[in-house]
Amino acid sequence: MQKLHIAPLNKAFDIIIDNIASDKSISHRCAMFSLLSDKPSTIKNYLRGEDTMDSLKIAKKLGAIIEDDQKTDTITIIPPATLSEPDDILDCGNAGTGMRLYAGLLAGIEGSFVLTGDKYLRGRPMKRVTTPLRNIGASIDGRENGNKAPLHIRGAKLSSFRYHSPIDSAQVKSALILAAIQGDEKSYYKEDLLSRDHTERMLNGMGANISTNQDDWIEIEPLKRKLKPLHIRVPADPSSAFFFAVAAAIIPNSKVTLKNVTLNPTRIEAYKILEKMGTKVSYFKNEDIYEPIGDIVVQYNELNGVTVDSNIAWLIDELPALSIVMSVANGKSKVKNAKELRVKESDRIASVVSNLKKCGVCCTEFEDGYEIRGNCALKQASINSHGDHRVAMSFAIAGLLCGMNIEDTQCIETSFPNFTEILASLKG
Ligand code: S3P
Repeated sequence: MQKLHIAPLNKAFDIIIDNIASDKSISHRCAMFSLLSDKPSTIKNYLRGEDTMDSLKIAKKLGAIIEDDQKTDTITIIPPATLSEPDDILDCGNAGTGMRLYAGLLAGIEGSFVLTGDKYLRGRPMKRVTTPLRNIGASIDGRENGNKAPLHIRGAKLSSFRYHSPIDSAQVKSALILAAIQGDEKSYYKEDLLSRDHTERMLNGMGANISTNQDDWIEIEPLKRKLKPLHIRVPADPSSAFFFAVAAAIIPNSKVTLKNVTLNPTRIEAYKILEKMGTKVSYFKNEDIYEPIGDIVVQYNELNGVTVDSNIAWLIDELPALSIVMSVANGKSKVKNAKELRVKESDRIASVVSNLKKCGVCCTEFEDGYEIRGNCALKQASINSHGDHRVAMSFAIAGLLCGMNIEDTQCIETSFPNFTEILASLKG
């Protein structure tokens, strides 16, 4: 099992980071959406993490030709005329996004497809996509009556739908949108809080017609023809960049400039929480390619506790890292209404609370969140990532204050292959 030892930094830093891992959500979508065009897509800066490389391998198994020019860091995806039935299983690795979005895409394509993944992904709930997909005619089976992978999909003709989702999830929304565009009539989808909207932005950029009406229903028109190809340079991932934002927020007198990050409002809420806690954060938009992209500057300032009980879907990936900030802030912090954390790459409520306790933090676990006492001088500990990349990286950042031993760190490769290299560069 891979382990990581982090030594305390013992000094302030002021750095510019221009090699943050590319956005994972956008990279997955590049692999999948390029299959909806009849022309080659060119993707620069595709995330070469395990999760997104698995999505690319699946695109290949479905008939795409993938050309990888490492010199220019450009991946060209030449889609097949029609997606072909693969002669093997489709392995999504650790990626919930891979499995749930491919389920929506493949549910309406002729053929037999088996989606599987690693032991963590095979333990995660899939009913949130298989139930609404079955309700519109999809033939999907899996363990626990379609709730757990491996999932077997037999592509079928799907009907249009009107669906108000009980959870705010971009994976569920995207799966349903990918099914809806294959229908004959307009479909309608609603969520209570707009979840990350890369799918809508990218598909519309490719020529699809997805809009939101005045009652906040997303209207999805079926595709009349193949889409235009994608030509994109994937921006840096604000969720990955956030680990270094946290480093600057907790190490006195530090400052970090995070270059070329997507500034999509559904993705930068954690930075707003840092601001609320006292950290100085500035945003500089440079360009607009499907979404706003720019730099984020984060500068240390005194921290105060905070209550986080809304916009949880916008924070779901950053709450483990925020829990480190909450531990050292002045006064109590609380996370509520965040039950979704229990079904991520690990049960993030249990893994965050148990690891914080090992570091000497006073905290209480609730069914839907946790409370952290604050004002804590963190202690070095041996913590377990529970196979969750975001837990591993959050505690690595905590280690900059107090030292840390982290067990089971292979998972960092799923989203941020050069994380430890950037971490080492903080030493200057
Ligand atoms: C993602 C959506 C989120 C997020 C995940 C990536 C996506 O999951 O946690 O890391 O790319 O659509 P949910 O849709 O389950 O909230």
